[in-house]
Amino acid sequence: MTDLIDSFPTVRELSDDEWRFLIEGDYDRQRLFDKADEVRRQYYGTDVYIRGLIEISSFCKNDCLYCGIRRSNGNAERYRLSKEVISACCEQGYGLGFRTFVLQGGEDSFHTTEWVADCVSALKEKYPDCAVTLSLGERPRKDYEIWYQAGADRYLLRHETASRSHYEKLHPPEQTFAHRMECLWELKQIGYQTGAGFMVGSPFQRTEDLIADMRFLRNFQPHMVGIGPFIPHHDTPFAAEPQGSLERTLTMVALTRLILPKTLLPATTALGTIHPQGRELGLKAGANVIMPNLSPAAVRGQYSLYDNKLCTGEEAAEGMESLKRRVLEAGYRITVGRGDSLATEPG
Ligand code: 5AD
Repeated sequence: MTDLIDSFPTVRELSDDEWRFLIEGDYDRQRLFDKADEVRRQYYGTDVYIRGLIEISSFCKNDCLYCGIRRSNGNAERYRLSKEVISACCEQGYGLGFRTFVLQGGEDSFHTTEWVADCVSALKEKYPDCAVTLSLGERPRKDYEIWYQAGADRYLLRHETASRSHYEKLHPPEQTFAHRMECLWELKQIGYQTGAGFMVGSPFQRTEDLIADMRFLRNFQPHMVGIGPFIPHHDTPFAAEPQGSLERTLTMVALTRLILPKTLLPATTALGTIHPQGRELGLKAGANVIMPNLSPAAVRGQYSLYDNKLCTGEEAAEGMESLKRRVLEAGYRITVGRGDSLATEPG
């Protein structure tokens, strides 16, 4: 069975048994991580792309059972950044070498179609050499189109789990799996470089669900895939659930690199949160993107998706020098540039 690892990258569909073995089988994970690293180096060399993450609002009308900023969390501190503050964050980020800005937020109705479009066009005008990524959840197709017209390049919307029955255990009935999927397909059709992604070890997750994630990714062919461990938040219904494991998360990162060799894979903040070397281990298992936090320091602690979320040190934009050093020590190199997915190039 371990020959399977050598057969990557393969175009062949794997069987349920093969997937099950790769995900939970008893074999030397280092071989899998090394193979993913080899494939990553083939396509991206040792380059690590950086994205400046700006968390623009912690208001959210959704009620995802796992998330600390869910609407029914009365203890969550809420804030919203003004356009001026967002622009100032980007200015600081540009100086630090960031050429991609990610505007991420809860689903906040304050962010009207026009507000976001204005924000995007102002940024694109000021920084024509930068990519703007949006991560603002599920919106009507019209909004996605208008924001694309305004200049947004990329959109991140994790699918969270590709299994409908599992999705329904993580979300209230008004948040449907069908709508999540519809949004993802629309984004891709409009022309965004589109990011999907999922949590590893979320409550009720079975191996079948992770197999469904792999098959969905193969079919959807996203440009980016965010994968992180589930981490409980104390003010959610999942407060007492165990967190996702490091090894399982790295396994899913590596498998994703192998089925989508050209995809952009962040070594996520959640991965950095569960282990002091989490991000480096992610890079060594096929990840090639890091997204430091460019939000104003004063609000960073309030974007609390899960407990102990990193937002200082190398996680913060001010920590760039030490981040660069750590990435070098791991055998990779941070590069300045937009860092588009190779999957967008012809051929
Ligand atoms: N643990 C890990 N990741 C989480 N997210 C939200 N809540 C948690 C949690 N408790 C992730 C979701 C979401 C992204 C912004 O953060 O996958 O898409």
